[in-house]
Amino acid sequence: RAPERLITVEDYRRAARRRLPKMVWSYVDGGADDMHSLAGNRSAFDHWWLQPSVLTGHDTHRLETTAAGLELSMPVMLAPTGFTGLTRWSGDLEATRAAQHAGTRYALSTTSSWSLEEVTAAADREHVFQLYPGSGGMAGDLMRRAWAAGYRTLFVTVDVPVKGNREGERKQGMGIPPALTPLRALDFARHPRWTYEVLRHQRVGGANTLDLSSGGAGSVVTNAVSSIESAERELMQSRLNWDDLAWMREQWKGRLYIKGVLGAEDAARAVDLGCDGVVVSNHGGRQLDHVTPTLEALPGIVDEIGHRAEVILDGGIRRGTDVVTALALGAKAVLVGRPYLYGLAVNGEDGVVAVLDILRDEITRALTLLGVRGVADLNRSHVRRAGTAPA
Ligand code: FNR
Repeated sequence: RAPERLITVEDYRRAARRRLPKMVWSYVDGGADDMHSLAGNRSAFDHWWLQPSVLTGHDTHRLETTAAGLELSMPVMLAPTGFTGLTRWSGDLEATRAAQHAGTRYALSTTSSWSLEEVTAAADREHVFQLYPGSGGMAGDLMRRAWAAGYRTLFVTVDVPVKGNREGERKQGMGIPPALTPLRALDFARHPRWTYEVLRHQRVGGANTLDLSSGGAGSVVTNAVSSIESAERELMQSRLNWDDLAWMREQWKGRLYIKGVLGAEDAARAVDLGCDGVVVSNHGGRQLDHVTPTLEALPGIVDEIGHRAEVILDGGIRRGTDVVTALALGAKAVLVGRPYLYGLAVNGEDGVVAVLDILRDEITRALTLLGVRGVADLNRSHVRRAGTAPA
């Protein structure tokens, strides 16, 4: 299909679905249990209406902002996603370059397909590193490596004390290594471009590859984790508590954001501990199902900590108007996860750039139609909860 037919993020979603084997698609696009929170992240935007002012005379629109301590050309960053190499073998590198091309930044997952050093080597500016909480051991090693590689902002993801129940992945045999059956092998064969690219390079995730035997370059999980099992064993643990976050805060001299918060009390506690901000997130509906959609959680968290820390939101951002709504409700910026994976699946780096261009155009048009000069001017007067009277 010609790229000019791909004019929305949803178009990229449909095209990505065609390009990926079912097993990989279940990983990229699925959620936990009945996927209510996944759907809720989207439908939450339907509960807000935008409130334009006409004839405001603004003929230029400023999308630049600063979030996570980094200057951005627009208030959209790329969320950390593990095993990006499953979608596109050089995924983390291409996504990093695409983010730079668009003037924004990439957040590299702990379970990335390329190591944090490899990503830095491919980068010409600072990006974000995502880490799971922990004291000592692997978390300490990763923080030292990240600092040495030049990362200064950490997102500490706290909503994975155990992996969510993703039934689609289980039904498709998604895992590292994948559970192959004749039918699944046939499905891979039906996606020869994907199969050729990924298997040729043998890099699927978290230490950098689909070298199913061990970690290291070209293995499945690159960062300090020799296998996804060791990452899950060491980094995703239900016994972790606030003391572990406090320990990380003490060790890390850069900016530290807690990612995966849905409650105002938790957000305040993180800021009391010295976190620079929070990422309001439910992991894209992939962890606990039936948790609050992130947009619904946002205003309460902004009210609680917005005056002393930064609030970023992710989950369900698919349109420029979604970004505008989240910013009007107090987010400094948003992260997109699946949208950039769709772009990667369809056309690698160029696909991610195209997805970011779509969002940039949509944000610009939305600001113009809303009568707002720039993203910094957005506030709650620009949105109205459905069912309440217009101001
Ligand atoms: C994720 N997410 C995620 N988050 C994180 O902190 N570390 C990780 O390794 C991953 N891995 C991951 C893989 C995939 C395939 C997806 C889709 C998501 C969650 C991610 O950072 C973000 O919170 C959500 O993706 C945001 O929702 P949207 O934009 O996908 O709707």
